[in-house]
Amino acid sequence: MDGKLAIQQISDRLLAKFADLVYKRTGIRLSPQKKALLSNRLRRRLRETGIKSFEDYYKHIKNISEDDPEWDAFLQEITTHETFLFRDEVHWEWFQDQYLEQLAREARQGKRPRRLHIWSAACSTGDEPVTLACCIAARLPNAHLWDIKILGTDIGIGALQQAKQAKFGTRAMSRVPADYRQRFFNQLDDHTWQAKPLLTRWISYQQHNLLEPLRSGRFDLIVLKNVLIYFDVESKKRVLENILRVLYPGGYLLTGAAEGVANIRGSLKRVYPWLFQKPEDK
Ligand SMILES: C[S@@+](CC[C@H](N)C(=O)[O-])C[C@H]1O[C@@H](n2cnc3c(N)ncnc32)[C@H](O)[C@@H]1O
Repeated sequence: MDGKLAIQQISDRLLAKFADLVYKRTGIRLSPQKKALLSNRLRRRLRETGIKSFEDYYKHIKNISEDDPEWDAFLQEITTHETFLFRDEVHWEWFQDQYLEQLAREARQGKRPRRLHIWSAACSTGDEPVTLACCIAARLPNAHLWDIKILGTDIGIGALQQAKQAKFGTRAMSRVPADYRQRFFNQLDDHTWQAKPLLTRWISYQQHNLLEPLRSGRFDLIVLKNVLIYFDVESKKRVLENILRVLYPGGYLLTGAAEGVANIRGSLKRVYPWLFQKPEDK
């Protein structure tokens, strides 16, 4: 590596410009404490693109569109895609033992259609949509008679490309119950499992920025975990507005425990610290 490049640190002024650009386009707040980390990550982009300085790189990405591969590569460097199947056990207990039970009962009683449309927003590499599909396959009686759709969206194109392969490594699989692993995955080698079509037939993926309204679809349940933690209150409110517009009355919003939705939940009823329900239409 070019010695000069290796020691280059980003200036506070330029860091603020990067932070502003990222905030405007994604809602993510880059903290000034992340200066060293950002310098390291950006150095990698300079090396890959052949661009000579942070300043020139900033000018470059400022002028490219959000579907340019370099914008995605930049985003990959500054966002975390950390995820795994069955993350947060309590959420999946609720989903299987209460939510699916209730849906099945109400459908049997003719109180609701056999429809289950779920949006996993900011789904990263697809671990969350596949977890949802596992639970449905295991616990919803007569699932083949239901209209089931799971939409996974993320701002990161690279993450979604990986999600579409439905392949998961040892770490991502470590919380999957043994019988689900057996029934719903093919083991490809010692370290890789692939979700079976039995699950993936319900799932589709789409690139989407949470700051923008979703183009189509309405949902019974929206799962929004471990993403709003990077947003400030203004952006959170904007995301929440976009989300609530496509949630059916009576539908649920499942969030991460530290997402800070409770303070800005408006008319949403808080069921648990991480679960909210949209009021039914009067
Ligand atoms: C830590 S992952 C969360 C994955 C999964 N929801 C979970 O809880 O395991 C955060 C994801 O949010 C995505 N993200 C960040 N800003 C976004 C935005 N403005 N719109 C959509 N996705 C965004 C990132 O690309 C990343 O994949």
